[in-house]
Amino acid sequence: MLTTPAPKGIADLDPVVSDSLLALIGMIAADKRDNLIDVGVGVFRDGEGRTPIPPSVKEAERRLLETQETKAYLGGWGDRGFTQALRPIVLGNHADDDRISGVQTPGGCGALFLATRLIKLARPDAKVLVGTPTWPNHPPVIKGAGLAMTEYRHYDFGSRTVDFGALRQAAENAAPGDVLLLHGCCHNPTGGDLSEAQWREVASIARECKLTPLIDLAYQGFGRGFEEDGYGVGVMLDACDEVLIAQSCDKNFGVYRDRVGSFWLKTRDKDATANAMAHVLQIAREAWSMPPDHGAAAARIVLEDEGLRAQWLEEVTAMRDRINEVRRRIAASDQRLGYIASEYGMFSMMPLNREQVQTLRDRHAVYMADSGRFNVVGIADRDIDRFCAAVIEAMDSVPAHG
Ligand code: LMR
Repeated sequence: MLTTPAPKGIADLDPVVSDSLLALIGMIAADKRDNLIDVGVGVFRDGEGRTPIPPSVKEAERRLLETQETKAYLGGWGDRGFTQALRPIVLGNHADDDRISGVQTPGGCGALFLATRLIKLARPDAKVLVGTPTWPNHPPVIKGAGLAMTEYRHYDFGSRTVDFGALRQAAENAAPGDVLLLHGCCHNPTGGDLSEAQWREVASIARECKLTPLIDLAYQGFGRGFEEDGYGVGVMLDACDEVLIAQSCDKNFGVYRDRVGSFWLKTRDKDATANAMAHVLQIAREAWSMPPDHGAAAARIVLEDEGLRAQWLEEVTAMRDRINEVRRRIAASDQRLGYIASEYGMFSMMPLNREQVQTLRDRHAVYMADSGRFNVVGIADRDIDRFCAAVIEAMDSVPAHG
């Protein structure tokens, strides 16, 4: 009797080309040298090289443990006190605009997932304009939603500045209804942020050309301050009827693994927003049903308590100060790295090619992304000089092939 051949399927899938940042986590875990410098994935580290839970958040968790009486479901919106308390931080002076609604999400990535699926549902042919380089997970999320992407150059590696002309041109050439993905602050991976004047200009182009801004706001507070880092969100909300915001609390509350974020939507009127948000909740229902509670509940407790909130703001200021201090030290180590002091947030890119990055790993146990992106604040104080010396040696000794 003839046997039916087994159908090709799950066991025959092609290997995954892993997100370079996730691959780094695995490589670092496997390296048993005791002098590792991990400037890969973006987590804040203090001068000692630790990633502490901010004391305000730790205190909120304590209170949560003592007072929480149930873990029954909260529903698709998550903790509504959390989004309510977050409104003024994310939306600034637009917090009272009833055309804007927010929902809790599992991290900023969950918010990007909702944003892109919503766009696909509403305007399946819309293209997403993406400035390169960008966070390596942006393209998979956009493509996973079934949306097309148009890339333009965000950053000019020659001058180490934002290539605003390329952004302007891409936006002006886009079709009405296309989506402009922008990093709200602390550009990941380059640290090259738009100036306030550039934000105003791009907002007016978005309004004229009827583009929808999608702002990824994952590092608010780590650049220049909460208000300053929210400047782009504010001007886009001033200029445009339709704005989407993917926000993360993972970094500024130090709750990375708890996955805390929010998705915000503005449309032309309150009822249209309510209707669209019902679709957003349906998209979330199919993916994660309801968001995880713990980290968002702790963030809510921090934000609702005047004392804890003030303490948390100071803690974020201290994190920002450390980021900027490390930036200054690295920039001062070699003229070729001077640009690092004028960029913002946790990331910058070293003028290193893949081969040089690999040399750093092999010779010096320094781990950064293949692209040369490094987490500025991943380095303990005691390692800064060694890190700079290793980078300078790699720049000098291995021929750069571009
Ligand atoms: C990063 O870019 O390192 C962080 O946003 C972590 C991540 O999920 O990639």
